[in-house]
Amino acid sequence: MKYSLTPFHTFHLAANASKIVEFSSAEQLLNEWQTAVNNHQPVLILGQGSNVIFLDDFDGCVFINKLKGITHHEDEQFHYLHVQGGENWHELVKWTLANNIAGLENLALIPGVAGSAPIQNIGAYGVEFERVCDFVEVLNLRTGDIFRLTKQECQFGYRESVFKHQYKDEFAILSVGIKLTKAWQPVLSYGSLTQFDPQSVTPQQVFDEVCAVRSAKLPNPDEFGNAGSFFKNPVIDAAKFTQIQTAYPNIPNYPQADGTVKLAAGWLIDQCELKGFQVGGAAVHEKQALVLINKQAAAGSDVVALAKEVRRRVREKFGVELHPEVRFMGKNGEVNSEEVTR
Ligand code: FAD
Ligand code: EPU
Repeated sequence: MKYSLTPFHTFHLAANASKIVEFSSAEQLLNEWQTAVNNHQPVLILGQGSNVIFLDDFDGCVFINKLKGITHHEDEQFHYLHVQGGENWHELVKWTLANNIAGLENLALIPGVAGSAPIQNIGAYGVEFERVCDFVEVLNLRTGDIFRLTKQECQFGYRESVFKHQYKDEFAILSVGIKLTKAWQPVLSYGSLTQFDPQSVTPQQVFDEVCAVRSAKLPNPDEFGNAGSFFKNPVIDAAKFTQIQTAYPNIPNYPQADGTVKLAAGWLIDQCELKGFQVGGAAVHEKQALVLINKQAAAGSDVVALAKEVRRRVREKFGVELHPEVRFMGKNGEVNSEEVTR
């Protein structure tokens, strides 16, 4: 049997899986995962599929995270949330604001579920998941052991964590712990948020502005399938940056604490005049060049060919290498997105 994966990922590519299981308990996931592995079937866990593309039909079992529940307790200084992995992230952000709990407002409208948030340390408008993470609860799918990692043990970085490395295979994130200070300080460093007065701004105002900016720039996956930023913003050394800046004085740049400089991949792609550029059914989004979209019944191979061309043009013009942020899934599991698009 073949089951369509099109509704289970936001790029909405035409791909199938041999089996799709929605799990609502850790026991169910463990049993079904071990059965599939014993039957030599490839396995893949998804939240809402908002950071993946499928290059092919998946010859195995896809597990969809439906773990639900939010508990809350507080002390004098903090709110503590224990959020099951299948809770929708944006609904969680709204729930906190409705309950007068601030601190997640900059992360509004990020697609996906709470259990996926630590994996690439989701970030937007000056805040990353790391800032609010208390712990991450993990299931060892081989042994059935459940354990918690502290924020430090998660080894968060820019779109990075231990869940892309040591805990990548044979581990499932079950839930996340979030700790939010009651002494709320707005984060207004990014873009149009700088217009607000830190003394009087409310969490709701920040939330509304973030939602407005995101809605104006990022395509709605229901209209054009996409996975958000397709590439990470590249980080280069200071000497290379000086060389590029001499040729392009207006280049947006974000100096890092270690002396390196982060560039805006969207700007680099835009400068290559690639907005609207199309390969097969896949295209560079007109309003945000860092987002690749499924414009017209794209195949996974169209997206790969487009990504390859975007990388080539940016490399040729600026000598800068872009690295995919989106995860690529092949017939038997994840494939190396870096190699496939080189
Ligand atoms: P999925 O895509 O389902 O999974 C992502 C990866 O994690 C896959 O490799 C999957 O196998 C693995 N995985 C999923 N669940 C588990 C689990 N329980 N245990 C172990 N492994 C698991 N990201 C940002 O950081 N900032 C943004 O501003 C942002 N904006 C976006 C805007 C749009 C329009 C879209 C479509 C995406 C955007 N993203 C953004 C990317 C995406 O929202 C995040 O990466 C999100 O955390 C993915 O969640 P998901 O549940 O859809 O994960
Ligand atoms: N820019 C252009 N042309 C474009 C796109 C961007 O010139 O087509 C310029 C902008 O004018 C700005 C700079 O590039 O000067 C940065 O653009 P933007 O503020 O839109 O942010 P980004 O770097 O493209 C990053 C994250 C987003 C996150 C936003 C807001 C990455 C890979 N992407 O995008 O995250 O929402 O900042 O914080 O870090 C995601 O990861 O999927 C994602 C959407």
